[in-house]
Order: sequence, then structure tokens, then C-alpha cells
Amino acid sequence: MGEIVRKAFVIGHPIAHSRSPLIHGHWLSRLGLNGSYERIDVAPADLPVFLNDMALNGFVGGNVTIPHKEVVRDLVTRRTDAADLIGAVNTLWFADGILHGDNTDAHGFAANLDQYQPGWSSASSALVLGAGGAARAILFALIEKGVRDIRIVNRTLARAQELADRFGDSVSAHAWDEMDGLVTDVELVVNTTSVGMGGQGASPLNVSLLSADALVTDIVYTPLQTPLLSAAAARGLRTVDGLGMLLHQAAPGFGRWFGNLPPVTDELRDIIVADL
Ligand code: ATR
Repeated sequence: MGEIVRKAFVIGHPIAHSRSPLIHGHWLSRLGLNGSYERIDVAPADLPVFLNDMALNGFVGGNVTIPHKEVVRDLVTRRTDAADLIGAVNTLWFADGILHGDNTDAHGFAANLDQYQPGWSSASSALVLGAGGAARAILFALIEKGVRDIRIVNRTLARAQELADRFGDSVSAHAWDEMDGLVTDVELVVNTTSVGMGGQGASPLNVSLLSADALVTDIVYTPLQTPLLSAAAARGLRTVDGLGMLLHQAAPGFGRWFGNLPPVTDELRDIIVADL
């Protein structure tokens, strides 16, 4: 009898763009594990049946991406605190016959900064640009790390206000045109908006206003050097690009499905960079 192949997936609609198969495929071969990770297009109407049948179809779990992350949150039996507060699930697995859901984006964000700027989380203040799904994960991570003064700036103030209400006292909401007055003393800047995607346009923030020891990071990684990061680096500030967040958010799921927590190496980073 052959060894059982552990099977995992990434589901989305569409799904062709996902880089997750490249990441997990690399880890499977590097660690010599008998497993598979496949991309599956699941239309929204087919999602409940897919989840219901996933164990029957031999899957141990998988990743969830757009547009299913919020819906899946309500279809799992057990959620982590991160999935609950972020309001979205990106990682599924079975344990004791129960379907569990986690959101690993907050972990990915923090682990990326831990790798390149250890000590970053001693920051007492942070400016977060944007108030979408990605911003929620960043807020979760910042609060968990004990950052006490988190300022959200968003084009649509009401969305920033919603997040401030949801995440509590350490978070304040501000309009986009208030930005200049909020940045001079901030220790960490995080861009979660799509501004700068594709490398187009100017930095969303006037980096000359930042303090010389501010750390600037962007969760956009196409291109790696976004207009914000380029401007910050040109001013001599410390920067961390967003690719490591993608790599680190993938690791906990792999660990759960295949039993080995995989390493995020420069070799893996180079493979994904070559594919950007
Ligand atoms: P995600 O899940 O990736 O966070 P999202 O929920 O669509 O995606 O959120 C996108 C974020 O980028 C929002 O904060 C959005 O601002 P609004 O809430 O005002 O829509 C922000 N954003 C997108 N384009 C922008 C632009 N040109 N200028 C400023 N903010 C922008």
C-alpha cells in the first residue's frame, strides 16, 4: 500500500493569478513531503458544496482567496481570534473532524517585519493608510504587538471610523487630507491601499515630513519598490517591502496540512521575484 498523499488547495474565483501554488510547491519539494497543492476555481454558488465535500474528496485543508474569504468565515465551525476580528478566513484545516478557519495575514505582516527589522514592534505609534480588508489584518497585528497609538487615514473617512470602532481605544480615524499633520512623530508607516500598485503615480505620503528614524512598509509588492518605498528609501529611511508578508502568511497553513512549519528563505523569495 502506498503512502497517503496529503492534498491541499487554494480556492478563488478567478484563481489563475494566485502565487500560492508556487510557494507551497517549492516547500513540498524542498522538504521532500508527499503532498499536493492545487489551484481550484470555485464559483460562489458552488462554495458550500465544495466545503462540505472537501474531506470526502481527500483534502486536509487549503487557502481561500477573493471573493470567498468573508463568506467562508461564516461557514467554518471554529475560528481563530484573528479570523474573527479581521472578519475573513484565508486558511482552512480539519482537526478532530471539525473545519477550522484562520486568517494568517496578521502573522505574515508581523513576521515579515520581524525578519527584516527585528525590534520594529517596540514602536509606540503607527500610521496605517487604508481601511479595507488588508488594513484589518494590519490593525490586528499592531494591537497584538502592543502598538498603542494607531492612526488610520482613509479616503473614505467612514470606513476608517468603522475600523476604529471595531478595534478599540488604541485606534483613531482620520481623513486623507489630515495626513500631513499626523506623520511628523510617527514611528511606523504602513500602506495598505492599492495606491502605487503597478508602480504608477507619486508616493501617497510626503516622506519629507517623517522623522529620520521612521520605518516605512507597504503591503503592495508589485512592484517591490512602490512609489512610497522609493521615496522613503531616497530620503534614507528604513523600508521593508511587502513580498515577505505573502511568503510568511503561507507558512502556518502549510504547517497544519503537512506537519512541517516551512522556512521562508531567500531561495523562495527569489523564485517569487522571478515570477512577478
Ligand atoms: P483590500 O482588501 O486589499 O484592503 P479594499 O477593501 O478594496 O481592498 O480597500 C482598498 C483600500 O485602498 C481602501 O482603503 C481604499 O480607500 P476607500 O475606502 O476610500 O475606497 C484605498 N484606495 C484605493 N484607491 C485609492 C486612491 N486612489 N487613493 C486613496 N485610497 C485609495
